[in-house]
Amino acid sequence: MNVLELKDVTKRYGEFTAVDSVSLTIEKGKVLSLLGPSGCGKTTTLRIIAGFTSPDSGTVEISGNNVGHLKPYERNVGLLFQDYALFPHMTVAQNVAYGMRYRGTPKSEIPSRVKQLMSLVQLAGMEARYPSQLSGGQQQRVALARALATDPQIVLLDEPLSALDAKLRLELRIELKEILRSVGATTIVVTHDQEEALSLGDEVVVMRGGKIVQRGSPTQIYAAPADKFVAEFVGRSNWFHGSRLSSSRDGVSIYVTSEGSELQAKTELSNQHDNADLCVRPENIELMGGAVGEVAQDSECNVVVGVVLDVAPLGADMHVVVELPRKGRLLAIRKNAGRSPGFVPGQPVRAQFSASDVLVFKAGGSV
Ligand SMILES: Nc1ncnc2c1ncn2[C@@H]1O[C@H](COP(=O)(O)OP(=O)(O)OP(=O)(O)O)[C@@H](O)[C@H]1O
Ligand SMILES: [Mg+2]
Repeated sequence: MNVLELKDVTKRYGEFTAVDSVSLTIEKGKVLSLLGPSGCGKTTTLRIIAGFTSPDSGTVEISGNNVGHLKPYERNVGLLFQDYALFPHMTVAQNVAYGMRYRGTPKSEIPSRVKQLMSLVQLAGMEARYPSQLSGGQQQRVALARALATDPQIVLLDEPLSALDAKLRLELRIELKEILRSVGATTIVVTHDQEEALSLGDEVVVMRGGKIVQRGSPTQIYAAPADKFVAEFVGRSNWFHGSRLSSSRDGVSIYVTSEGSELQAKTELSNQHDNADLCVRPENIELMGGAVGEVAQDSECNVVVGVVLDVAPLGADMHVVVELPRKGRLLAIRKNAGRSPGFVPGQPVRAQFSASDVLVFKAGGSV
């Protein structure tokens, strides 16, 4: 059953369209990540669902009922705002209980519910503190407890982890995922951090310029991006421009890049374009030192030769930038396992990637 359904929702500010014909459904208990660049309309979409902004057209249905005429506090929606501002003059317990008082939770039930929520977000015993007496991560948990307090039908989290440093952000992300699963909350989590979106959401919706450009599982979004924008926005990518020279059996086309090298790409027939933007993910590039120019055995394997420009050992991964002789650079990401060969700047290398790891988009597609 769909807990939430947006039909053709549009919001304009003067001439500017902030949300453009957005239609969206969420099933009960699912977590949907809303991902997109700054200004693409994510917060505005949440505000429309919560009732803080009214759309110019389109409808919002919660559990099958049009809620257009309902005030925010009349909609059973829990919202964590982008700046997650807690009320500074209220204790943690009062902050968490805030929504319950508005939604008519019997007074006698509030203390036990607060206690339950505090233990859910691992802050038991801190009820009497004020927000200024908490760390950033703890404040974030209080804000989450406040959003979950009324057992809302829909939980809307707007950049719930953005105020935290990288390490805490990762810890809390895992915790947030567990909490949402354990309470079975139907959730939209907004983020412009692609890793967060892919890890938190059962499904990911990518927005751009007020419109939804793709919806899919995290794997689909990454492995089969709908267009060049999604490919570029989600994950890292290397790009070539290519003109198709020929198509052969098995859906393999040969492209001549603007730098003059030949690349093979294996795609569906419908995805073969005469003029194409070709994308290769850095983790799909194998690097070999030594014998430059050696021919690869596998006929569906692309080989590009170059010289190592930079090596960055980033913990678990090693990022190697390869300068190509004619033009351009390639980023390859290898696992930084102790056994893997090291690369040094100035070293000639061969970069190999399979034809089926080349994503093909119609050239001139929007980015
Ligand atoms: N009240 C308003 N008046 C005029 N323009 C607005 C108003 N609210 C939002 N906008 C514009 O609508 C667009 C979408 O804003 P929104 O806050 O939804 O973006 P966002 O995707 O949440 O971005 P961010 O990732 O930066 O939070 C922006 O260009 C913004 O400037
Ligand atoms: Mg926003």
